Amino acid sequence: MRPLNIAVLGATGSIGRQTLDVIDRNPARFKLFGLSEGVRSTNRKAEYLVHGHAGEPEFDAQVEAMVTDPRCDLVVVAIPGARALKPTMSALHAGKEVALATKEVLVMAGALVMKAAGERGIRPIDSEHSAIWQCLWGEERKNVRGLIITASGGPFWAHPELDLDQVTVEQALNHPKWSMGPKVTIDSATLMNKGLELIEAHHLFGIPLDAISVCIHPQSVIHSLVEFIDGSLKAQLGRPDMRLPIAVALAYPDRLPNAVPPTSPRELSGLEFHDLDESRFPSVQLARQAAARSGGHPAVLNAANEEAVNAFLGGDVPFSGIVRVVERALSAFPGGGGTLEEILEADRWARAYIRENSVV
Ligand SMILES: NC(=O)c1ccc[n+]([C@@H]2O[C@H](COP(=O)([O-])OP(=O)(O)OC[C@H]3O[C@@H](n4cnc5c(N)ncnc54)[C@H](OP(=O)(O)O)[C@@H]3O)[C@@H](O)[C@H]2O)c1
Repeated sequence: MRPLNIAVLGATGSIGRQTLDVIDRNPARFKLFGLSEGVRSTNRKAEYLVHGHAGEPEFDAQVEAMVTDPRCDLVVVAIPGARALKPTMSALHAGKEVALATKEVLVMAGALVMKAAGERGIRPIDSEHSAIWQCLWGEERKNVRGLIITASGGPFWAHPELDLDQVTVEQALNHPKWSMGPKVTIDSATLMNKGLELIEAHHLFGIPLDAISVCIHPQSVIHSLVEFIDGSLKAQLGRPDMRLPIAVALAYPDRLPNAVPPTSPRELSGLEFHDLDESRFPSVQLARQAAARSGGHPAVLNAANEEAVNAFLGGDVPFSGIVRVVERALSAFPGGGGTLEEILEADRWARAYIRENSVV
């Protein structure tokens, strides 16, 4: 069997580089067919080497050609934020397998993305969704009672003494367990990451929003759980190493030998679980409400959050202002439907609202 031709969008990033590592270590199975790079470089050669940023006409055209090329088998999407929606839809419409790290794509347009994916579905890379996916293999949906998404809690959960109006960018970027790009690291600190993941899980697995909960698990060993109607819980465990969910997504339905070093049960002692304090971290509740209102609301949640995270990183809003900005945008949103054009319009509306109303 020839190796799978893989295109990696966002190849210079945290997920992108780890994907290249998985590809490099399995040359009989995988071939780097194409990649996109932003300001950084991987110094790689491939059939397609695309430089620049989504939204630039040449970049968009070259990415479109790469992900729809008949020789391309699988597209890894790891460009953060709303910019990843268009190439994801192009790849799906061209019948490609998609391994998705960018949760924002499913938050914005989950129903449309899952419809375009059809029977193939989407291969999740987010560790929580990879865990749930693996727990669901061989199980019938009618036997699932709910999903429990675990959260490390980020850098501030364990420090109730900290005033979240005063924490610095450096403190917020200092994640206790995972080494990731800045956007997802700040989302982890506000817990908005869990709100986005809740919406992502709802679409990926077709589970109602009220059957999905979030639980703080500071050790990040259990990556998420599935609860069954008979009272059974299934969990997927492992070290916090994204190369494992990436390997699972690329090799599905097979598994790669030694994708990561084995985990000894001795490493698993002292696991803790705590309820989420929603008054200190209101983002999960906000995301749940936006998803329940559907239409353009999740796109507004996502766009307002992206703008607010950038404003925080640029020193323009305090840390606790991030969720306040999202809340204000959602309250002001006049509503809108769920077609692709309406979703993109909701995204534009939220960004313009934030710019024009001095929300940040
Ligand atoms: N990192 C993780 O462990 C992790 C875990 C779960 C989910 N995710 C999700 O995976 C996605 C990627 O995260 P990451 O941590 O890998 O991000 P990252 O380290 O910031 O890397 C982002 C990649 O996308 C490129 N990029 C950035 N903006 C772009 C734009 N406008 N157009 C085209 N390319 C652009 C960057 O290029 P340059 O840097 O070269 O400019 C880089 O290659 C996010 O949606 C995140 O939520 C990440």
